[in-house]
Amino acid sequence: MATARSLLLLAVFSTAIAQDVKLIYKSSSKPVRLFTEEELRRFDGSQEGHPIYMAIKGVVFDVTKGKEFYGKDAPYNALVGKDSTRAVAKMSLDPSDLTSDTTGLSEEELESLEGVFEGTYKAKYPIVGYTASRILNEDGSPNKEFKPEEQPRFQVKEEF
Ligand code: HEM
Repeated sequence: MATARSLLLLAVFSTAIAQDVKLIYKSSSKPVRLFTEEELRRFDGSQEGHPIYMAIKGVVFDVTKGKEFYGKDAPYNALVGKDSTRAVAKMSLDPSDLTSDTTGLSEEELESLEGVFEGTYKAKYPIVGYTASRILNEDGSPNKEFKPEEQPRFQVKEEF
């Protein structure tokens, strides 16, 4: 009888520990992902309650907490679900600027981009990954210029 009770207690206790371990594991490991254009498009704020992501300079930010800016019908919704580097650099919502292409941007626009990237996005939103085009070259080979350690919230050891 006593043994049966001990076994029962042990079983309850181990389940509790297992759940704790799971919780700890869950909260400490935030996987950083590689996003193709198609994958990133799924996080465009169109579905209520789903995370909202956008990329700048190939860094994918979780901007869900800014849904008053980025959610469905919000003023900057056009920027999300994609890499909007050019739009942010030019402070433009013109569809032709909703791209990662920085060709021909002025010195002033590049400086402004850097300011918003550091001062708003990196300061305010968690990084959840990188766009495939930042990490890989067009032929699929690794982009050697990519330096994950430059990103403060990026855990190089865990991910590479
Ligand atoms: C009439 C024109 C505009 C006005 C009055 C305006 C106003 C504002 C204001 C007041 C904020 C700060 C909100 C806050 O931190 O609480 C803001 C943030 C921002 N604006 Fe605009 N804006 C305008 C146009 C644009 C355009 C064309 C873009 C195109 C990219 C843009 C991109 C942004 C971004 C990326 C933020 C940061 C949002 C964040 O904190 O996540 N804005 N804007």
